[in-house]
Amino acid sequence: MLLVTGGAGFIGSNFVLDWFANCVEPVLNLDALTYAGNMQNLASLEKDKRHTFVRGNIADTSLVSELLSKYRPRAIVNFAAESHVDRSIHGPEDFIQTNIVGTYRLLEAVRLYWSGLSPDEREAFRFLHVSTDEVFGTLSSEDAAFCESTRYQPNSPYSASKAASDHLVRAYYHTYGVPVLTTNCSNNYGPFHFPEKLIPLVISNAVQGLPLPIYGDGLQIRDWLYVADHCTAIRRVLDAGTPGETYNIGGRSEKTNLDVVHTLCDILDEYRPKADGTSYRTQITFVKDRPGHDRRYAIDARKIQAELGWKPSETFESGIRKTVRWFLDNADWTRSVTDGSYRTWVEMQYG
Ligand code: NAD
Ligand code: TYD
Repeated sequence: MLLVTGGAGFIGSNFVLDWFANCVEPVLNLDALTYAGNMQNLASLEKDKRHTFVRGNIADTSLVSELLSKYRPRAIVNFAAESHVDRSIHGPEDFIQTNIVGTYRLLEAVRLYWSGLSPDEREAFRFLHVSTDEVFGTLSSEDAAFCESTRYQPNSPYSASKAASDHLVRAYYHTYGVPVLTTNCSNNYGPFHFPEKLIPLVISNAVQGLPLPIYGDGLQIRDWLYVADHCTAIRRVLDAGTPGETYNIGGRSEKTNLDVVHTLCDILDEYRPKADGTSYRTQITFVKDRPGHDRRYAIDARKIQAELGWKPSETFESGIRKTVRWFLDNADWTRSVTDGSYRTWVEMQYG
C-alpha cells in the first residue's frame, strides 16, 4: 500500500481521490488535521475499504514507526506541511516544526523501516517529497523560468522551511541511499482549496459582497496549475522517476494576480451575475503588500515532459472555469471550513 501524509489537505485529498479513481492499491492516510485538513474532503471515501485514515503528526516518531511496521507501505508521498506564506510571516514556528522537524523525523523513521526491508523491497521503495517552486526565490520579468538546477534562494519562512526539508530529503538519498524523489510544483488551484489562498478567497469574498484584496500593485506573477494535473504528475514521478532526482512541475500559465482576479470576476459575472448589474470587479481593493513578496515564479517543466512524458491537460482558462463552478456548487464546503479560527485569521490579516 501507499502511505500518504497530509492527505486531508488541499492537494493531498485531491491526490487520494485521484489515486482511487485510477488505481486499486490501498492508501493509509496520515494527517494531523490542522486548520487546513478537512475530513469532508474525503467524505466520498467513507465506505471505501481501500482508504484507512489515521489522525496524527509526521513528527510523532513512535506513531509513524508503528504505522510503518503495521502497514508496510511500498511508498510514501509526503504532502504534510504548513503551506501558507502569510501565516509563516505572522508565525514561523509551526513551519519550522512541521516542515523541517516533521520531515526530518518522518525521514528518520522511514530510513529505519526501509533498512529492514528485503533487498528487492528496498530497491522498489520510494519516498516522494512534495515541494514547491518557492524554494527557488523570485524572478524578474526577463529571467528564465526555474529549472531543476536553479539555485535555492528562499525568501519567506514558508519557502525557507520547505527548502530545508528538500535538503534533508536529498541528504537521506546521498548519505543513506533511501530512494527519494522530490517534486517542485508551481501554484495549484482547484476543488478543496482552502479559502485563505488567493483564488478561493476571491471567489468566496466576491459572492459575499466583500472586498477582493490585492496585495501591492497586483502585478506579481504566479504560474498556475490545475490540481488534478499536479496529481497526475506525482503519480507519474512515483511510477517512473529516478531516485535522487528532482522534477519541476508547472502549468506554463504565468498570470499576474490582477489578471487572475479579473478572470475570476468575469466568470462570476457570467455564472452568477449580481442583482444590481455591476461587475464583481468593483469589489477589487488594493491593500498593503506582503513583506518580502516574491515578484515572479515560473517553472520550466521540460525535464518531466521529456523524461516522463507528463504535461498538463488543463489550460488556465479551462481549469479556472471548473474551479469557479466547483466553489459555486459547494458553498457548504466553504461555509464549513471558514469557522471561528478562520475568521480570527481574516481579521488579523486584513483588519
Ligand atoms: P494544505 O495546507 O492545504 O494541507 C496540508 C495538510 O497537511 C493538511 O491536511 C494538514 O492537516 C496536514 N498537516 C499539517 N501539519 C501536519 C503534521 N505535522 N503532520 C501531519 N499532517 C500535517 O497544503 P496543500 O496546499 O495541500 O500543500 C500540500 C503540499 O504541497 C505542501 O507540502 C506544500 O508545500 C506543497 N505545495 C503546495 C502548492 C500549492 O499551491 N498549494 C504548490 C506546490 C507545492
Ligand atoms: P497565495 O495564494 O497565498 O499563494 P503563494 O503566496 O504561495 O504564491 O498568493 C498568491 C498570490 O496572490 C501572491 O502573489 C499573493 C497574492 N495575494 C493577494 O494579492 N491577496 C490575497 O488576499 C492573497 C491571499 C494573496
